[in-house]
Amino acid sequence: MSQNAARSPLHRPPAPVPRERALGAIPLLFALRSNPLSTWTRAHYEEPILHGTSIVGEVCVVSEPAAIRHVLVDNAANYRKDDLQRRLLGSGLAKGLFLAEGDDWRLQRRLLAPLFTPRVVTRFRPAMAASAHWLVSRWQRQRAGRQINVAAEYSRVTLDVLERTIFPQGLGRDPADFIQAVTAYFESAGRIEPFDLLGLPDWLPRLGRFRAAPALAFFSEAVEAMIATRRAGLAAGETPDSEQPDLMTLLLSASDPETGAGLSEDEIRANILTFIGAGHETTANALTWTSYLLAMHPHWRSRAEAEVDSAMQGDVLPEMDALPIVRAVLEEALRLYPPAASLTREAIGPDKIGHARIAPGTRVIVSPWLIHRHRRLWTDPDMFDPSRFLPGAREKIDRFAYLPFGAGPRICIGMGFAMQEALVLLAHVLKNFRLEAVPGHVVEPVQRVTLRPKGGLPMILRHR
Ligand code: HEM
Repeated sequence: MSQNAARSPLHRPPAPVPRERALGAIPLLFALRSNPLSTWTRAHYEEPILHGTSIVGEVCVVSEPAAIRHVLVDNAANYRKDDLQRRLLGSGLAKGLFLAEGDDWRLQRRLLAPLFTPRVVTRFRPAMAASAHWLVSRWQRQRAGRQINVAAEYSRVTLDVLERTIFPQGLGRDPADFIQAVTAYFESAGRIEPFDLLGLPDWLPRLGRFRAAPALAFFSEAVEAMIATRRAGLAAGETPDSEQPDLMTLLLSASDPETGAGLSEDEIRANILTFIGAGHETTANALTWTSYLLAMHPHWRSRAEAEVDSAMQGDVLPEMDALPIVRAVLEEALRLYPPAASLTREAIGPDKIGHARIAPGTRVIVSPWLIHRHRRLWTDPDMFDPSRFLPGAREKIDRFAYLPFGAGPRICIGMGFAMQEALVLLAHVLKNFRLEAVPGHVVEPVQRVTLRPKGGLPMILRHR
């Protein structure tokens, strides 16, 4: 089918209009706090590399595949996670896998890799299907035509997946309380504070951080309780399943192959929070945007439903490669709305990116949001067209033009897990329900650590 025939001509997925000119210093600080997506100019969507100085210091925005590869893979050792990210995500995550650097990072990555091998991820499939069944029965109890907030629903089910897979001993708290705390945390601490951008000292109060304090207290109590419970279990002789590792056991029984040392208490705590944060909100956002885009493109929804209907006998899960259309729809949603909208780094030593001379300390931004909508890399970049990802077309996409999970040594450790989880959940939702857009509801993407629809996403639930 041609790309044009596949597209609903009426719908343009919502996105801020690129600015003609860069914002001045003060408006830029405020726009970054309210929605970083709104700060990009037309040049950012058209130029391969933009390098310059602004109120936030020297910045290089890299959107050219070879240059992206240089930053994320070939010379990755010269680029560390930047200070702003550390401040944004909070000190609680600093020692976890997402933010750790050097030998600490290498040890943790090696330690946690066994949890995400293709074999282990495949073994998580029945648990993911159990979560999907739980969601289906929850929605089946709803009256048809009722509005539900799909963003919150998907958050709830992706947290349930974590509890049935990498945290099999449970989170020890009501999942609803966890979700409320995660949402409150991202909404408040997840805003880019002008003080942080200007590099002002930590003791100066930030409104966002003040508002995030109750959520942080909740996390810290919950994590302490989880560690205590698992330690008690291990002390009482509970033996870990070597075929099916779990996160808590790996963290608590880790030892450095050279020194024999275990992880510090801070590292253990930070990783529990990292995996709760990185492991459910991102996938929930991907599912939310996918459901929204399908509702706005009924032709693709019908194709996806037909594929699921023929691949799924009863409620039995099909093989994942039996769903090329659903996968293409998901990948296109991840292109238009990448949950991790910006990957930011700081140059350690001098370097050259393309023609740009990079001084130490330069902030380097590789933004999947910009790259996925870049005029030089995609045809009709702002339009929804899953046929780009159907077999035959998918292989022609440059590896460094499509980065929802990043690339190089810091690539998402949960990529295979997330794709399988999203496909399992989508298959069950498509088989049983039809989600429709709420007439008149305005959808606005905002970047608050992850890329989400502002205020959640109400949709109308119909039974199929
Ligand atoms: C659709 C879902 C997801 C998306 C789009 C996503 C995206 C990403 C991206 C882009 C990175 C690299 C960040 C950078 O280079 O600065 C990353 C790293 C990471 N992700 Fe994911 N992720 C998803 C799901 C998950 C899941 C399910 C887990 C765990 C269960 C997870 C855990 C992590 C961790 C721990 C890292 C840090 C890896 C390291 O630095 O070694 N993510 N993710």
